Amino acid sequence: MHRTALGKLAIVFAALSGNGVDAFWRMNCGVIQTGRIDPIVTPGEISSHVHKIAGGYNIGFNSSYEDMTNSKCTSCEIGADKSAYWTPQLYYRHANGKFQDVPNSGMTVYYLGRGDNRDNIQPFPAGFRMLSGNALARSYDNTTMTYNNGRPVADRVSFNCLDSTTQYPETPSMIHTKCSNGLRAQIQFQSCWNGVDLYKRDNSHVAYMSTIDNGVCPPSHPVQLVHLFFEVLYGVAQIDTTDGGQFMFAYGDPTGFGFHGDFLNGWDPTVLAPALKQCANVDNAGQISACAPLAASDSSQYSYNCAERPSLINEPVVGMLDKLPGCINITPGPSDASVSDITCGPGTTSPSVNPFTLSNPSQAAVMPQVNARTNGWTYMGCANEPSGQRALAAFSYTNNGMTTAMCQAYCASKSQSLAGVEYGSECYCGNALSSGSSLGGANCTTLNSMVCAGNSTEFCGGPARLQVFGATAPSTGPSVPAVGAVAGDFVYAGCANENFTTPNRALSGASYSNNTVTNEQCGAYCSALNFQYFGTEYGTECYCGNSLKGGSTLSQTGCSMACSGSLSSNSPFAQYNNTCGGSNRLSVWKNSKYQATAVVPSVGSYVSQGCYYEASANGGSGRALTGASFSSSSMTVESCVSFCAGKNMGLAAVEYSAECYCGTVLQTGASPATDGLCNMACGGNKQEYCGGSNRLNVYKSS
Ligand SMILES: *[C@@H]1O[C@H](CO)[C@@H](O)[C@H](O)[C@H]1NC(C)=O
Ligand SMILES: *[C@@H]1O[C@H](CO)[C@@H](O)[C@H](O)[C@H]1NC(C)=O
Ligand SMILES: *[C@@H]1O[C@H](CO)[C@@H](O)[C@H](O)[C@H]1NC(C)=O
Ligand SMILES: *[C@@H]1O[C@H](CO)[C@@H](O)[C@H](O)[C@H]1NC(C)=O
Ligand SMILES: *[C@@H]1O[C@H](CO)[C@@H](O)[C@H](O)[C@H]1NC(C)=O
Ligand SMILES: *[C@@H]1O[C@H](CO)[C@@H](O)[C@H](O)[C@H]1NC(C)=O
Ligand SMILES: *[C@@H]1O[C@H](CO)[C@@H](O)[C@H](O)[C@H]1NC(C)=O
Repeated sequence: MHRTALGKLAIVFAALSGNGVDAFWRMNCGVIQTGRIDPIVTPGEISSHVHKIAGGYNIGFNSSYEDMTNSKCTSCEIGADKSAYWTPQLYYRHANGKFQDVPNSGMTVYYLGRGDNRDNIQPFPAGFRMLSGNALARSYDNTTMTYNNGRPVADRVSFNCLDSTTQYPETPSMIHTKCSNGLRAQIQFQSCWNGVDLYKRDNSHVAYMSTIDNGVCPPSHPVQLVHLFFEVLYGVAQIDTTDGGQFMFAYGDPTGFGFHGDFLNGWDPTVLAPALKQCANVDNAGQISACAPLAASDSSQYSYNCAERPSLINEPVVGMLDKLPGCINITPGPSDASVSDITCGPGTTSPSVNPFTLSNPSQAAVMPQVNARTNGWTYMGCANEPSGQRALAAFSYTNNGMTTAMCQAYCASKSQSLAGVEYGSECYCGNALSSGSSLGGANCTTLNSMVCAGNSTEFCGGPARLQVFGATAPSTGPSVPAVGAVAGDFVYAGCANENFTTPNRALSGASYSNNTVTNEQCGAYCSALNFQYFGTEYGTECYCGNSLKGGSTLSQTGCSMACSGSLSSNSPFAQYNNTCGGSNRLSVWKNSKYQATAVVPSVGSYVSQGCYYEASANGGSGRALTGASFSSSSMTVESCVSFCAGKNMGLAAVEYSAECYCGTVLQTGASPATDGLCNMACGGNKQEYCGGSNRLNVYKSS
């Protein structure tokens, strides 16, 4: 593994990090809430200053790990991560004393595989939370060092002024603020855990690595965590600063030394653990798409689908404000601010708090199944917008309360049979798709579609892709087979029960079980053995028989389990649900071409003489016919007769399903057998008998 230049990240760490691979993933996050909320520092209370929060929908004053993981959505791109990430809001104080919020649309969160012990990174445990930074700091503290005297702890905070003309170095405070491409605040987290406490108020449960973004953990904090790093980009160039005002953070800090970040774990542990194992030490250039456990829930519409919630607190926090929300003294330093500079005294009235109901995963939007019929409309699939015209071109409208039902009702009112929803809030109608557009022309998935503007539990298409609904019921598509339904040579006989109060299976002729069972495969298996019926059970089992055992009947319910194997689209069974019985239930099909195994009466001039013993089996010695012989697993009576005729022998006989004997005279001891044991089907044709054990079906040329 070698270090490679990595754009943004290389800029950040070039000066900070000496060695180590650049193995990480980088997650984009929109904003879920702006307000005085901080469930880490002030749980259950209105916090001292305004934060911008990204992540799980359920973030609130008191959020627990369970609250977070129950969020119906997250404003970060990885759906399996319902954690909350937050930093203070940046304001601009105009010369007239008014405060204006600086535009910011979220943050980028890095999960980096760092530290000498990075091969042993442990996932964040449930309930884990931490804060990095010190809101009271107003100058660079060069004396408080990391473990081993590694580095000033103050280096956890840095600023990067992104300007198109000047390349500024990174600075530990907010010095340069004329940045045409934005001012980026950056914070690194503690990556060493004491392994015991999920949270301590003074954050003593965690410690920085010896060089903060790398190095070793102190013995007191031996558990290596992934290295968290936030980048928060502020649109400072979008603020009119001609009045000579000043940028400052929500807690009255014009220096930036007091910048801080918070992390409240809300990860699905079944995703975080494999992601850390598979991706935290592999150089994927930060791409989530290259990390399978994360890619599975990587949404392209995260910030639209989990948009910023209205503020929980009834006070203005954005726009032009008379004061910083809370009780904030502006504290330029260089000495530290005090707690009283950012805390309201006794008797201060707090703004009221809006009611908020926690969401749950069942409120997450779901994509309908193709052919599903709801409210009289059938979901037909996902269509592309063709170039030069609309896919559905007859009527359209846009509404920021759009739902699928609204669009369908609108199209019905225009007497159109197709309704398409697109881009969350658009509705299109027509009687046919325009040329260049087709159902299946685009994919509408839960990861690339946008929730309906008027109903976040359903999707309304996406960019240049429509979910199309049709007014008529689906005319094609699989249905559950009805009794009598035909698939090739087979006719559906019904759903049978196993009945274990009597011995044997419902169909007890032959069976197998594996994970590729379909009705087609089981049918082929049982017909090759010449059984009249086959039955599939529990998705994975196949049974054959010529009759259904007593106690089992064909009128049961419960044959609704999907077959473990998949059918090809040209299978005669594809017109029906690929359903293979259920628990103690068999989907039973009858072979309409079935013929019971029988004695072939004659082949050409050779006429059946009945069943005879081998000479040695009946008091003689040796074979009944000693002229010529061959054996073949695909033996038939025809092939044996043809062989013996070719040898000019007038007697031909088949034995043991696969053997053929010829001769001109039956040897001593080869006399008729009347015990019915010429009962083996021919290897090459299960509808013909080919003798049995020590018994032959004999044919004689007339
Ligand atoms: C937070 O939790 C505490 C303790 O469970 C409770 O007393 C308080 O009412 C909660 N506060 C809010 C704002 O939900
Ligand atoms: C820390 O900074 C102060 C003030 O700038 C300076 O006088 C002092 O030498 C510095 N100490 C170290 C260890 O760098
Ligand atoms: C839809 O997605 C499938 C599976 O990812 C892919 O094979 C197919 O090409 C996609 N179709 C379109 C039209 O994007
Ligand atoms: C929102 O969508 C869900 C899922 O389609 C549906 O069950 C529900 O009735 C819809 N609610 C509204 C208000 O449209
Ligand atoms: C399952 O069994 C059937 C019938 O014996 C066979 O055709 C098929 O190849 C088997 N599948 C696997 C994966 O072994
Ligand atoms: C089994 O068969 C018997 C006799 O027909 C019947 O009374 C019983 O209900 C059956 N049991 C089950 C579980 O199908
Ligand atoms: C069979 O398929 C139809 C259409 O796709 C579906 O509505 C139905 O629920 C399926 N039935 C079973 C038993 O799977």
